[in-house]
This record gives sequence, structure tokens and C-alpha cells, in this order.
Amino acid sequence: MNVLVTGGAGYIGSHTCLELLQNGYGVIVVDNLCNSCAKSLDRVRELTGKEITFYEGDVRDEALLRKIFAENEIGCVIHFAGLKAVGESVAKPWEYYDNNLNSTLVLTKVMKQVGMKNIIFSSSATVYATDNEMPLQETSRTGNCTNPYGWTKYMSEQIFQSFATAEPDWSIVLLRYFNPIGAHESGRIGEDPRGVPNNLMPYITQVAIGRREQLSVFGDDYDTPDGTGVRDYIHVVDLARGHVAAVKYVATHQGCEVFNLGTGTGYSVLDMVHAFIDVNRVPVPYVMTDRRPGDVGICYADPSKSEKLLGWKAIHDLKDMCRDSWNWQSKNPMGYGE
Ligand code: NAD
Ligand code: WQD
Repeated sequence: MNVLVTGGAGYIGSHTCLELLQNGYGVIVVDNLCNSCAKSLDRVRELTGKEITFYEGDVRDEALLRKIFAENEIGCVIHFAGLKAVGESVAKPWEYYDNNLNSTLVLTKVMKQVGMKNIIFSSSATVYATDNEMPLQETSRTGNCTNPYGWTKYMSEQIFQSFATAEPDWSIVLLRYFNPIGAHESGRIGEDPRGVPNNLMPYITQVAIGRREQLSVFGDDYDTPDGTGVRDYIHVVDLARGHVAAVKYVATHQGCEVFNLGTGTGYSVLDMVHAFIDVNRVPVPYVMTDRRPGDVGICYADPSKSEKLLGWKAIHDLKDMCRDSWNWQSKNPMGYGE
């Protein structure tokens, strides 16, 4: 079966393409490369020895999508394409609502026209309201998002729920990712953020490689064991495996189902820094600074629904994540820019 992967050249998309190919699926990618590089797909081809059909273009381009569905027999869609920088979304809300909502609307419109009913969507733990008990279950409260990016994920989920009501024979899976880090063990594909990294692990690896002077630890006065923020970090290869499990799930179910993709374990910022230093034997200078606006103290998943219904659970531990993040960064100091 062929899977259409929107945003497949990106960080999570490229790792998912690799897992799909290794599990016998054909892969068609559409990506406008606004936050990625086609080299990632070359490297996936090289790692798997398999072909990927690539269309460079925008998911909001209805004619292009029609062409892709006409030229390929597609059994399932995984929709990664979107903008994802929280801070940028505050400065450029129009771009975020346009890209993240219209890509979903155009894609699903064309799917309806061609009779394609199976889709997996990249949602985020960011849709959960900030006043929930931990761990977060799929039934925990959502909303009260603190930035336009979060609202686009929240609204996209609402849009998919409405489609599922209108089209009961569609199969829709909404995957709420926690904090993806790490890279494929080969060190050939990984996360390559443009500009200053927003997220913790790419910042740590860029400090370790000497591209940045020191890490700022955002807040040491949270109600956590060491005062720094706690998150549920998940290895990107586990996340990619979760998508393969979801592709199997949508083939045999109908309706709209939500799943957490996390490990169920929370680590603090200092846990991450110290684990990275211990595993890789490289220094990571850091300073304590004020909290980052919009951050919560603790966020981690209850992943038991995914284990029960998708038959998936994360298998990589913190050491694997730290080792593979550094393996990628040290082999590709400037990312795909080499
Ligand atoms: P990424 O930026 O590496 O990948 C997104 C890809 O989509 C990029 O290759 C980009 O060029 C492409 N793209 C963006 N808009 C497009 C459009 N209109 N048409 C075609 N291509 C387009 O990001 P990622 O980390 O791989 O994230 C993938 C998805 O997962 C995103 O939807 C993101 O919001 C979501 N997500 C990411 C995280 C995270 O921490 N990385 C957490 C939760 C959810
Ligand atoms: C993790 C921890 C920071 C950078 C974000 C999005 C979320 C999702 C995943 C897409 C926090 C601390 C960070 C730094 C630091 N993305 N930190 N110094 O904020 O949990 O989630 O990415 O859906 O929507 O909000 O991830 O990696 O930015 O931060 O101390 O330079 O590291 O305060 O405690 P976050 P993150």
C-alpha cells in the first residue's frame, strides 16, 4: 500500500518515511521545503535502498493534490505539513492559521473528491489545557491555548471531529505528540532547525558542537524536584513507529480516534542536560534564567491507550535519545547544510 506523506521532508516526516519503507509501504511525499531540505529524502532513499516519489509543492495547492491522487494509488494519508514555531506564531498568526488550517481543508476536500478516507494527523500535547492533572489522558481537558500555533492544532482537531461526524466511514487518527527528540541511529537524518533553535535538545546539541555559547535554562522555580520544567521526551524513531501502527489502525477502523504519543515519563531540563553530558562526554555550559512566557512546569503523557489500541509503545530510553541526538549533530555540524 502507498502512503501519501505531507511534510515528509521534515524532521518527523523523514523518520516516518524511513519506517514506512522498511515496513513495506510505498511512500509519496509532498513538501514545499519551507522548513526542510530535499536531502533528507535522498538520505532516506540511501538508508533504505528504496524509492520515494517526491512532489515539491504546497499542500494548499488543490490542483497539485488532485494530480498526486491521479498519478498514484494511495491507501492512507499522513498529514505532517505545517508551521510549528510557537514564538513565530505569535508574531505571524495569519501565516500560521493560513498554512495549518488551509492545508488540512484543501487536503481533506481533495480526499473527499477522490474517495480517500484514511488520514493520520500530527496534533500536539499543546492542545491540552494547562490546568490538567498529570499524566495527560486523551480525555483530559483541551483548549486555553497560549499561542496561535496551539490554536491551529486545537482547531484542526475540531475540524477532523466534524468531518468524522459528517462522513462516518472515514477513518481519522489524531496523534498528540509530546516532545520528540533524537535522530535515526545512522546519524544520516535528524532535526535541522533554521536559525536559533526554539526547543531544548537542538539547543543543547548546538551548544555542545560550539555553534552557541551556552544554554539558558528557563526557570528553576517550578514545582518540580529540581525546579526546572519537566517534559515527556520521546525518541523520534519511536514516534515514527507510532505512525506505522496508526496506518495499520486506520485500515481496520472507522471514526475519529485520538492518541497520545509519549513515553509516560517526565524529565527535567537539568535531567536532560546531565544525561546528555554523561552519555556523550561533552561539556554543555548553561546558565539559569527567568521562566519563558507561556511555559508550564510539568507535562507528560499517559500513553496506555496507544499501547492498548495501537499496540505501540516507546522502546527507546533517555540514553538512546541523548546518544542519537549527538550522533546526528556531531556528524552533521551544520545540519543538512553540512
Ligand atoms: P518540520 O518543520 O521539520 O516538518 C514540517 C514539514 O512540512 C517541513 O518539511 C515543511 O517544509 C513542510 N510544510 C510546511 N507547510 C507546508 C505546506 N503548506 N505545504 C507543503 N509542505 C509544507 O516539523 P516536524 O517537527 O517534523 O513536525 C511535523 C508535524 O508535527 C507538524 O505539523 C508539527 O506541528 C507537528 N508537531 C511537531 C512537534 C515537534 O516538537 N517537532 C510536536 C508536536 C507536533
Ligand atoms: C522543553 C523544556 C523549556 C529551550 C514545544 C511546543 C509544543 C511542541 C513541542 C509542537 C521547557 C526548557 C527550552 C531552552 C530551556 N511542539 N528550555 N531552554 O515548550 O515543552 O514544547 O515543543 O507541537 O507545542 O510548545 O518544548 O523543547 O521548547 O522546551 O530551558 O533553550 O526545556 O522551558 O521546560 P516545549 P521545548
